[in-house]
Amino acid sequence: MSEQSSVHSWEILRCVVADQDAFRTRLADLAAPELRFEERQEKLNALLPAFTAHIRAEEEVLLSRALEFDVARVTAMAALEEHEITENLFEKAKQSAHPEQLQARLKVLTDLVVQHALRSEKELYPMLRSQLSVAEREEMGMRYREARERNELAPVFQMPVREGLLESQTGRIGYVIAWFLGIPVWVLLLVFMVRGH
Ligand SMILES: [Fe+2]
Repeated sequence: MSEQSSVHSWEILRCVVADQDAFRTRLADLAAPELRFEERQEKLNALLPAFTAHIRAEEEVLLSRALEFDVARVTAMAALEEHEITENLFEKAKQSAHPEQLQARLKVLTDLVVQHALRSEKELYPMLRSQLSVAEREEMGMRYREARERNELAPVFQMPVREGLLESQTGRIGYVIAWFLGIPVWVLLLVFMVRGH
């Protein structure tokens, strides 16, 4: 039996791809030319909590794990950056003052989301599929669903987890650079013990 047919529907990569497909469809609906300004705003506001909950859960469960692999780290960091830009643009679109401004911002937002999803599906997820066992991906899928539900109920303005994720990577890279520059390992160890990360 192939791996594909033996994995359950809660396997994390399937869950994330299914969510991304749903968002692409809902963003395409938002572009319908016949929508009035207020209708478009209403649909956008309805989409935001689910979208934020999805990206936060992906960061919490999937991207935090991806950062642990050398082969996936840069792509995962790029995904975190794209998430931040997307969220900012969502906020900007919500504050659009007139119909054409909203339509223009939605165009850019849709392109960004489609590109981000494509890159994740082509580059990041295949790498993770090869690094993680089916059992781990299924366990992560359950945590992803739980995090998505929890985040959807949480206020949208909560602090993103991504600052912490990127900071921990910056620290790791900093140690490597310091080591290359000739700083002795015992000094780095001392700094690590004092900083705690
Ligand atoms: Fe994503």
